[in-house]
Amino acid sequence: KQEEKKWMLTAHRLVAQLYHHFLLERKEGQEALHYLKQRGFHEETIKVFQIGYAPDSWDFLTRFLAKRNFPLPLMEKAGLLVKEEGGDRYFDRFRGRVMFPIWDNQGQVVGFGGRLIGEGHPKYLNSPETPIFRKSRQLFNFHRARQEMRKQQTAVLFEGYGDVLSAYQAGILYATATLGTALSEEQARMLRRNAEKVIICYDGDEAGMNAAVKAAEELHKQGCLVKVAVVPDEQDPDEYIQKYGKEAFQRHILDEAQSLTAFQLNRLKKGRRLADDVERLAYIQDALRVISRLNRAVERDHYLRQLAEEFSLSLDALKREQYKLYKLEQ
Ligand code: CTP
Ligand code: MN
Ligand code: MN
Ligand code: MN
Ligand code: MN
Repeated sequence: KQEEKKWMLTAHRLVAQLYHHFLLERKEGQEALHYLKQRGFHEETIKVFQIGYAPDSWDFLTRFLAKRNFPLPLMEKAGLLVKEEGGDRYFDRFRGRVMFPIWDNQGQVVGFGGRLIGEGHPKYLNSPETPIFRKSRQLFNFHRARQEMRKQQTAVLFEGYGDVLSAYQAGILYATATLGTALSEEQARMLRRNAEKVIICYDGDEAGMNAAVKAAEELHKQGCLVKVAVVPDEQDPDEYIQKYGKEAFQRHILDEAQSLTAFQLNRLKKGRRLADDVERLAYIQDALRVISRLNRAVERDHYLRQLAEEFSLSLDALKREQYKLYKLEQ
């Protein structure tokens, strides 16, 4: 078992170097390199993250590994190869994709995320769960970001690889991302152990906003001070940084991050005409529901007062309404 893992790790280290070499030095990788550069990723970033290119071939990696005496069944188990359906031939899992190595906390490559150049499906192909790669226990770029997280006592959590890369170029070195899954309890604990404050900065679309609420709740459970940063116009952080630059991202997005409750209340306002009595009362009712789910009396009081002030309502009336909902929640 230990021996198997060692082989898998060695293979991943070599394969990451190989893919990286193909991206930067070989003709086959030129289109991929151009794609990355045109997205605004600099060569230095590409080197730091050891981004690569998997040639568009069925057996390029298979032959490479076989030549170096890596047992192919083990390489399949490691997620680098796949086995022919019903047969016994192996071929490359990743073909014609931009390759993002995923490092574990010890700084060893344990998996890959592979992106198509341009449009198509699936956009990303990731390594499967393997003995060395447990998605719920890894975060993208965590091993590199950890020191800076500790120093700043702050972590930024993104959804995607590109977001982390663009943030890195913007000088934000304490950023990580989940690997295409919801934030797990273990991942939340990893963040908590290294930073007091976590800023969630997910994509600005509906899916991203919903996922942000879930992640915030998980982080809150682990005792983090959570804030949610909102990227406007359904963009993602990567697109925003590339378009508006790092100062704008820091000042308008990260510095403007809100508490989860403030974020939820703002979301409930979207698309409602609050000048209209009916819609305003509906909003207030929804807002009370959010507030009544808060565990701490101080927090509930804080947002109730804010709501009372905002709509010139008596705090007493709001408290009575909220209390009814609160009892339902308990
Ligand atoms: N993801 C995945 N499989 C997919 C789509 C997404 O594993 N088919 C994961 C990837 O880790 C991706 C993240 O979910 O980085 C966020 O998804 P999305 O926002 O769709 O991708 P981006 O990172 O924005 O990708 P890009 O900017 O390259 O289009
Ligand atoms: Mn640039
Ligand atoms: Mn998305
Ligand atoms: Mn995205
Ligand atoms: Mn993106």
